[in-house]
Amino acid sequence: NEHKLAELARALPGWRLELLEADGYPPENGQTYYENARAKARFGRRTGDPELWMLGEDSGLEVDGLGGRPGIESARWAVEPVPALLGALREVGRGGRGARYVCELVCLSPGSVEYRGTGTLSGRIAPEPRGSEGFGYDPIFVPEGEQRTIAELGDGWKSQSSHRARAARDLLVTLARQKRSGPAPPTK
Ligand code: IMP
Repeated sequence: NEHKLAELARALPGWRLELLEADGYPPENGQTYYENARAKARFGRRTGDPELWMLGEDSGLEVDGLGGRPGIESARWAVEPVPALLGALREVGRGGRGARYVCELVCLSPGSVEYRGTGTLSGRIAPEPRGSEGFGYDPIFVPEGEQRTIAELGDGWKSQSSHRARAARDLLVTLARQKRSGPAPPTK
């Protein structure tokens, strides 16, 4: 996903990120974002350059009025996700419009030592789409404390404050902590 790549590149200054070929990637069937993110990183570890670090990402949108769906199904929940979500919420009161984006990052070193970063962004689903930046559900997601949708707030806002930016910061903290406590132990 080029949008995710651009967002992560802005959130991880100094990193040089490249998208791997997804050819041959097995079906995404983890029970959690973490499992899916780890599967992506491990696929990269198996198929990509052994000298490079691998970063796997998985994310989704959880809506209160839908019992937390679409969640890890977000990418394949509906062909037209925005109208589908607005339709599903038509019968749900304002309380049910509470929602959160979740992002998990799994980073594997060349020796397959695993580092993890997690980020969430709370907000609510707007009654109709507004704005043109971002992707997916961004035109109908209003972050907590904001009046505008993410698609109106724009990519600059997203690179500082999105669930993905928060997960990236969490990952950087984990990596810095590891660096301070010495080299990571090799794993099998
Ligand atoms: P996956 O992580 O590739 O399985 O898919 C994530 C799906 O969650 C995307 O296809 C979107 O539907 C939704 N999603 C995750 N992050 C965002 C975001 O930042 N903006 C809009 N939709 C998102």
